Amino acid sequence: MKKTRICELLGIKYPIIQGGMSLIASAELAAAVSNAGGLGIISPNGSEPDWGKVAENLRSQIRKGKSLTDKPFGVNFPIHVLGQDRSLLDIAIEEGVPVVTTGAGSPALHTSYLQEHGVRVLHLVASVKHAKGAEKSGVDAVIAEGYESGGINGPDELTTFVLVPQVVDAVSIPVIAAGGICDARGLVAALALGAEGVQMGTVFITTNECIADQDYKDAIVAANDTATIITGRGSLPIRGLKSELITQGQRTAEADIAPRQMICGAVAGMINEIVSAGDVVRNIVQGYDRIVAGL
Ligand SMILES: Cc1cc2nc3c(=O)[nH]c(=O)nc-3n(C[C@H](O)[C@H](O)[C@H](O)COP(=O)(O)O)c2cc1C
Repeated sequence: MKKTRICELLGIKYPIIQGGMSLIASAELAAAVSNAGGLGIISPNGSEPDWGKVAENLRSQIRKGKSLTDKPFGVNFPIHVLGQDRSLLDIAIEEGVPVVTTGAGSPALHTSYLQEHGVRVLHLVASVKHAKGAEKSGVDAVIAEGYESGGINGPDELTTFVLVPQVVDAVSIPVIAAGGICDARGLVAALALGAEGVQMGTVFITTNECIADQDYKDAIVAANDTATIITGRGSLPIRGLKSELITQGQRTAEADIAPRQMICGAVAGMINEIVSAGDVVRNIVQGYDRIVAGL
């Protein structure tokens, strides 16, 4: 597979990143992706929903990651959650984490601090304006995420297909494409648009190593092309499964079961099996040559 500036920047074999995912991006998942030659990312609350325990959880997850792989992996920090507080960043620095992904806030706040401590910073954006701002703040690369993606979406609802080339044209740092990618076709298309890597979230939920509940994984595998919807437009737009909205109503009626949103991207319709996270990476690597040869 083609080596890009992202491979060089992050010290990884393939330009394939497993995105941070609140509550479910734990050390086991990140290490499996990194062991397969991509870059795994731990979320500070991956495997521990109690935010009061986030500091100890983050440190123990990083240490667990280091025990499971000798390859690089990163940590994701949503900036609106951190604010000015750098204590969680300091844990990542102390533990020698080489890469941090940030999003949902200004990259001007912490980028130079992290870089002064030898950490590469990738910032997630959903518009050209924010990509330019991130470049100005000195980030090492931007992750351009279209609104096909699972989780919190940008307000302007740009698709990956139109966002990525416009960001590529607007900045000179490397661009990673995210949103709607789960296989080799998506990676080849992203590279054709000028991206130098991909970040995927949804496809990694349906892996053996992901700690997501089995019914969540099964619902993604069962999902079709029209299965997801954005809720919270105008405040906090989030893409997840439509069917879960119905289930949530039922669950809320049952007092003992807390409502839970099954967050995932539109790419759920393309995911048909639960495999290992390493196989997700390996299948993309194997499919890449075949697709490129057929173009
Ligand atoms: C369940 C879920 C939780 C997510 N949580 C975060 C998060 O905490 N921080 C973040 O930067 N991105 C988060 N994302 C976005 C992913 O890192 C990734 O960019 C996105 O899933 C890519 O699009 P895809 O879902 O089409 O693969 C989340 C995505 C999902 C599906």
